[in-house]
Amino acid sequence: MRRLEVHTHTANYEIVIGSGLLTQIPHFLAQLGLPQDGGCLLVSDDNVAALGYPDTLQASLRKAGWPAELAVVPAGDASKSLSLTEALYTRLLQAKVRRSGIVIAVGGGVVGDLAGFAAATYLRGVHLIQVPTTLLAHDSSIGGKVGVNLPAGKNLVGAFYQPRLVVYDVDTLHTLPNREWRGGMAEVIKHAVIGEPELFAHLQDTPQPSCGDSAEMEAMIAQASGVKIAIVQADEREAGLRMHLNLGHTIGHAMEQASHYQLNHGEAVAIGMRMEAEIAVSWKWLDPTVRDQIITVLRQHHLPVVPPLMKWEQVLTYLDVDKKHSGSGWTFVLPREIGRVEVTREVTEEDVRAAWQASTS
Ligand SMILES: NC(=O)c1ccc[n+]([C@@H]2O[C@H](COP(=O)([O-])OP(=O)(O)OC[C@H]3O[C@@H](n4cnc5c(N)ncnc54)[C@H](O)[C@@H]3O)[C@@H](O)[C@H]2O)c1
Ligand SMILES: [Zn+2]
Repeated sequence: MRRLEVHTHTANYEIVIGSGLLTQIPHFLAQLGLPQDGGCLLVSDDNVAALGYPDTLQASLRKAGWPAELAVVPAGDASKSLSLTEALYTRLLQAKVRRSGIVIAVGGGVVGDLAGFAAATYLRGVHLIQVPTTLLAHDSSIGGKVGVNLPAGKNLVGAFYQPRLVVYDVDTLHTLPNREWRGGMAEVIKHAVIGEPELFAHLQDTPQPSCGDSAEMEAMIAQASGVKIAIVQADEREAGLRMHLNLGHTIGHAMEQASHYQLNHGEAVAIGMRMEAEIAVSWKWLDPTVRDQIITVLRQHHLPVVPPLMKWEQVLTYLDVDKKHSGSGWTFVLPREIGRVEVTREVTEEDVRAAWQASTS
């Protein structure tokens, strides 16, 4: 078991990563000194619930004296909605959750963001515990961004709200579908490129295209999480450094939308990282051999590095929507070397077109 600490301006908390942790959660809650009479609601989605993880947790909580109730939402990003947030408020009321009460999110980023937003806003904030069950959630469960979508776009309503604790039982990852695994690996590779050369070298030598044994997962997730923790500690509310986490995402987000979500988030980010590496090479910011290493590692994890069949102008349309939101040009994060990235607003349309060509030829 590994315990990592997060210290931000608003909260200090631990990320506990290891095998067999689901049933230890009552013990961790007691260590935090959380009262049992404040109420407790577990939130999960129907895929995760069918695998029995929330049931196992609920049973061990009840055995230890917590009056844990369970709310299950449909799996999928559409559940990150204001109407389901309201449904959760109703369940919180029914479960008699008070201000000293607890919301426990058991699932991937969707459940974490939705339950986290409900926890941040119900009674102006109750305790939140994140129990991630996807690989991507090593990213989403740390750092305190919670929120839901509006019909006009993703993640448009939300808050910065740090959890009291993150418990990552890596055993749950064994049931993750392969495509979800690979999508999560894109974010692991992203964290390695941003700030963990040792992890990058490890992935070059021993790629993890599918879930390995629990000890291996524990080590890898701890290293990737370490990068996110360091950045969130330095910049809790995305004033500067936190933008580094958007490596691969400027193009990735546009690509995800242009593909009408045929590409999942991680796949789009993989192509985005490749194209952003191409831009960095054309600017002489990045050694071409390092770009090739990034491409190789992505490929070794069965991630796409070539844009799907579409006109590059389609991606441009979505990049422009992004620009409108920021009001000051495209913000790109480009790799300088493994372990170092830099933010720039100087990327031009021509740079993107050339990178598209380099990535498709
Ligand atoms: N808050 C943040 O900082 C942040 C960061 C990155 C992404 N996100 C958000 O995270 C979401 C994506 O997260 P995700 O990729 O975890 O998606 P997800 O929560 O939809 O999970 C992916 C799929 O895997 C299933 N699943 C979950 N755990 C499983 C398990 N152990 N075994 C088998 N199946 C399992 C889910 O039911 C779902 O069908 C997006 O909404 C994104 O906006 C948030
Ligand atoms: Zn991402």
